[in-house]
Amino acid sequence: MKKSPLITSMAIALLATTASTGALAKGKLNVLCSADTDWCSLMETRFEQETGVKVSLIRKSSGEGYAQLRAESKNPKIDVWWGGTGDPHLQAAKENLTQAYRAKELPNLLAWAQNQSLVSDNRTVGIYAGALGFGYNENLIKKKGLPIPQCWKDLADPVYKGEVQIANPNSSGTAYTALATFVQLFGEEDSFEYLAELHKNVSQYTKSGSAPIKAAARGETAIGIVFMHDIMKQVKKGFPLKIVAPCEGTGYEVGSMSIVKGARHLKEAKMWAEFALRPDIQSLAQSVNAFQVPSNQASSIPAEAPNFDELKLIDYDFAKYGSVATRRHLLQRWDDEIKSLAR
Ligand code: F6P
Repeated sequence: MKKSPLITSMAIALLATTASTGALAKGKLNVLCSADTDWCSLMETRFEQETGVKVSLIRKSSGEGYAQLRAESKNPKIDVWWGGTGDPHLQAAKENLTQAYRAKELPNLLAWAQNQSLVSDNRTVGIYAGALGFGYNENLIKKKGLPIPQCWKDLADPVYKGEVQIANPNSSGTAYTALATFVQLFGEEDSFEYLAELHKNVSQYTKSGSAPIKAAARGETAIGIVFMHDIMKQVKKGFPLKIVAPCEGTGYEVGSMSIVKGARHLKEAKMWAEFALRPDIQSLAQSVNAFQVPSNQASSIPAEAPNFDELKLIDYDFAKYGSVATRRHLLQRWDDEIKSLAR
């Protein structure tokens, strides 16, 4: 029997569409990524290549990602939230925005990554860790004749007026980590006094956590309060930045991953979760200058990652600072008492 030319061309068009997207045959996945854009893209491409699943990925800062999940809770568009600081992932878990999943690699993860799963009834899990600090532009500090800052308290010195950047803790997980770190180091009242002084030196509260160090790299600000691995990334690009591990000690993040409650592509979301915890996949991060410490004990730790054993790390209370009440309270207080203060 002869096929009509119309039917033949329709069949060819259908085949071409299926081959180009892979979507009809292998499924789809909507990923919210709160890690660095380069790493998000690498994960997207690699997962698509390996599984044939078509990924649609958006990048948002951690606090913004949490807000999106919350806003869409009745009609979730995102299937898996990968990356971003652990506190908002924990808040999402407590608010029933995410669902429990125990990946096969869970027993092979380092203690801090498993702890994230433990305190959330398996609704989130650690994928990497990063230590907070600050970086300064060596050339700019020299040119302006500024002293070299060594401690958190130094950054509130009026000599640095207009020379410091940090993100807004509502949108950025990095800045919330800083806020929670200060509260754990100095106590809540002293921290808010400190933040009020620091505010006089802050030229801009950025949306994304790593933006302050990119600004310092370009010479737009002398100092950026960020994760150390985000400074290292700019150093690798050749910018004249120095990394400071503050003298009082510092906090850290457990970058996390969660499957969204009501995910439309649950099978693919679980495939992503398995994929993202594999050591061979985690070890790829350094190829895009992402220098966090990976969570799987078999993953290779980048030489550029900070050595946690050498840092004066606080015993960051993730259950408390990722709880709904504490996170809401601190952010509200920051909005009320710090954000709108005159400089
Ligand atoms: O740039 C990477 C990174 O620092 C991650 O380690 C971290 O989880 C994330 O960004 C936090 O971004 P933000 O502060 O914008 O939420």
